[in-house]
Amino acid sequence: MTGSGSSTSKPMTVAIVGGGVIGLAIAWRLALGGARVTVFERDATGSGASQASAGMLAACAEAEPGEEGHLALNRASQNLWPGFAAELERYSGLPLDLRTEGTLIIALTADDEARLRHQLEFQTSLGLPLQWISAAEVRRREPHLSPQVAGAIFSPEDHQVENRKLAQALRAAAEKAGASVREHSPVEKIAVENGRAGGVLVAGKFEKADVVVLAAGAWSRAVEGLPPQARPPVRPVKGQMIALRMDAKAPILSHVVWAPGAYLVPRRDGRLLVGATVEEKGFDPSLTAGAQLALLEAAWRALPAIEELAIEEARAGFRPGSRDDAPILGTGPVEGLVYATGHYRNGILLTPITARAIADLILHGKHDPLIRPFGLGRFALSAAAAE
Ligand code: FAD
Ligand code: GLY
Repeated sequence: MTGSGSSTSKPMTVAIVGGGVIGLAIAWRLALGGARVTVFERDATGSGASQASAGMLAACAEAEPGEEGHLALNRASQNLWPGFAAELERYSGLPLDLRTEGTLIIALTADDEARLRHQLEFQTSLGLPLQWISAAEVRRREPHLSPQVAGAIFSPEDHQVENRKLAQALRAAAEKAGASVREHSPVEKIAVENGRAGGVLVAGKFEKADVVVLAAGAWSRAVEGLPPQARPPVRPVKGQMIALRMDAKAPILSHVVWAPGAYLVPRRDGRLLVGATVEEKGFDPSLTAGAQLALLEAAWRALPAIEELAIEEARAGFRPGSRDDAPILGTGPVEGLVYATGHYRNGILLTPITARAIADLILHGKHDPLIRPFGLGRFALSAAAAE
């Protein structure tokens, strides 16, 4: 899986299944590298999890026990973000609204404080640059937060990006670099013959490709044509979210804030996102009263001034969760097929590293050590070990 882009050989052709941030970012990088790329998107680009997201780049605040293995990948991608954003904005001519105030994880009670101090001990033991700040300091930084605030973890390197603008910029950049983006073009099947992917079937027509990239997010398992052992174990993990409207000239919050029961993400345009549930409900798109109530109540406890804000939008999206909640990156049992899926709660964070590593793999046959632990093969190994 190498060798396109040279001026003497024919360019490598790549078909990408899925036009979310992952498929589009890979398309951009591959097209820049000289490949002839087509993105097939079932609906409109960026209309899947990529538009439902909160856009937090939270490698530090979201580090949890049991997920230490993801940390190197998450931090590497986080470190790529400033350069990636600057390059993408320059290349596409579109803004991403990357905000760099950092993240506060607040305690509202003595119990919350004890829990957060324990969490901080774990996270700093991993070398993450987090620190405890006093209630007075939290209120100085965010005067509208509840007077109940008992203190907070401050994470200076966990920033946020406007994920919808990210998807738009990636599409523009991919097309400018020469990729073709075909919306409303569901891939009916990945064409596999003699253990090799040779292209995709779209509207009954075979579209030949040297390499097929499976980047269909939560729908990746449902794409037809693959033998059972090559189907990635990805499921939808539903997230409900609410967008409130602040006065963009007098916003009531500037940091990303994690409060007990909800996170709050203030956008430059005045939207304030309140998210998100984590539900194992398949592809059920409904918004439920209980979830919306719980999110608003948790947000209100942290930031009482939301009471006056208008509700602009409520939405549900589907995170692509793999069996172990880590991404699935790289090759598998079908030759010519590359996986870039299963990014779960961190797909926006992981966009730069995924695009770079997958493009390097396809264009140059280079297997970035950072993605080695995340191959599809790990599931076969764990199944064999369980027998
Ligand atoms: P998607 O954006 O879902 O794109 C997949 C695309 O494939 C879709 O557009 C779909 O239409 C298309 N498709 C499916 N089947 C086919 C087919 N057969 N043919 C053609 N196209 C097909 N991540 C973060 O890093 N930070 C966050 O703060 C964050 N918050 C989140 C909050 C919520 C509520 C949710 C739901 C997710 C959040 N995430 C966050 C996760 C992040 O949004 C995802 O991991 C990321 O968007 C995955 O991108 P993707 O391109 O793989 O998938
Ligand atoms: N990463 C935030 C979410 O998935 O809700």
